[in-house]
Amino acid sequence: MADIILGIESSCDDTSAAVIRDRVLLSNVIASQDVHKAYGGVVPELASRAHELNIVPVVSEALKRAGVGVSSLSAIAFTRGPGLLGSLLVGTSFAKALGLSLGVPTVMVNHLQGHLLAGFVREDGRQIREPSFPYLCLLVSGGNSQIVRVDSPLEYRILGQTIDDAVGEAFDKCSKMMGLGYPGGPVIDRLAKSGDPSRFKFSKPSIPGLDYSFSGVKTSLLYFVRDRMAGDPSFMDNNREDICASFQKTLIDILLSKLVKAADLTGIRDIAIGGGVSANSGLRARMLEEGRKRGWNVFLPEFKFTTDNAAMIAVAGYFRYLAGERAALDVAPLSRIVGNFY
Ligand code: KG4
Repeated sequence: MADIILGIESSCDDTSAAVIRDRVLLSNVIASQDVHKAYGGVVPELASRAHELNIVPVVSEALKRAGVGVSSLSAIAFTRGPGLLGSLLVGTSFAKALGLSLGVPTVMVNHLQGHLLAGFVREDGRQIREPSFPYLCLLVSGGNSQIVRVDSPLEYRILGQTIDDAVGEAFDKCSKMMGLGYPGGPVIDRLAKSGDPSRFKFSKPSIPGLDYSFSGVKTSLLYFVRDRMAGDPSFMDNNREDICASFQKTLIDILLSKLVKAADLTGIRDIAIGGGVSANSGLRARMLEEGRKRGWNVFLPEFKFTTDNAAMIAVAGYFRYLAGERAALDVAPLSRIVGNFY
């Protein structure tokens, strides 16, 4: 008999619910929160309040679109962390309460695991192309920059990660610094398309091993803009596209240099990307280019599965449900997940 999983995601500023039958997506509803735009970043208190308002209509809509009644659910998968505690509390408490009232088991999912497995969401009528295990995933979002070796749906090893800022944070903070708004990634991506990526140079870190650092390049852009603006107040207005293209290229160079190293060290040729920054058109193009050059099988998630969504949580939860995992009723959300737990 097919397993029907309701996934619930509320780790940051998107309230999302999705329903899958086995791994086939039946619905994926996302309520984004525009309220944060005015503040240039997510305001945790406002995010929790918006989740509280959104969670019931979003879950109801997901079940309705899927054509599934609550009595048919096999399990409810929810994001336990990492993320904003107040936001996670809403999804976690809702999932546990719904599961308890229906007598349906709940399964907890690490949000990052959802991003790693986003490529396993199946859609009716679409060609299936999934990475084979083991594969490497470059996980890049507003909170993380990691290279993860994925050995099975339940086994992961972080090979390298940022020692300071995440790459999405670098996009967001630098966008704010240049007065381009929030979230910065999509704006810089758009402007970069009409700019010259080789016009300006920004410093790149020299960190040993497979770890990343993005704080230096951020500071490099800050000083660059400050110094150029001191001599020419209209410098930014006249060079915005080239600055964005050059800055974006620097970030992509940093990401790819370690990913290439990880692929060479492990001999793994199936390479995926995930997380919000995997929507970046420059990064996607570069992944395909490197793939052609190096004989990689590259897996790019569909745009709708790059940012936070419950479809990926439902799929990650599905694998854990099949493995017999169940969440206890006293499970609390975790804002941080330390170590290698996925
Ligand atoms: O995975 P995500 O939705 O949220 C978490 O951080 O968990 O990622 C959000 C991040 C933000 O930093 C945003 O600027 C970045 O993803 N992002 C992008 C693009 N779209 C979203 N960064 C670069 N290019 C994009 N097109």
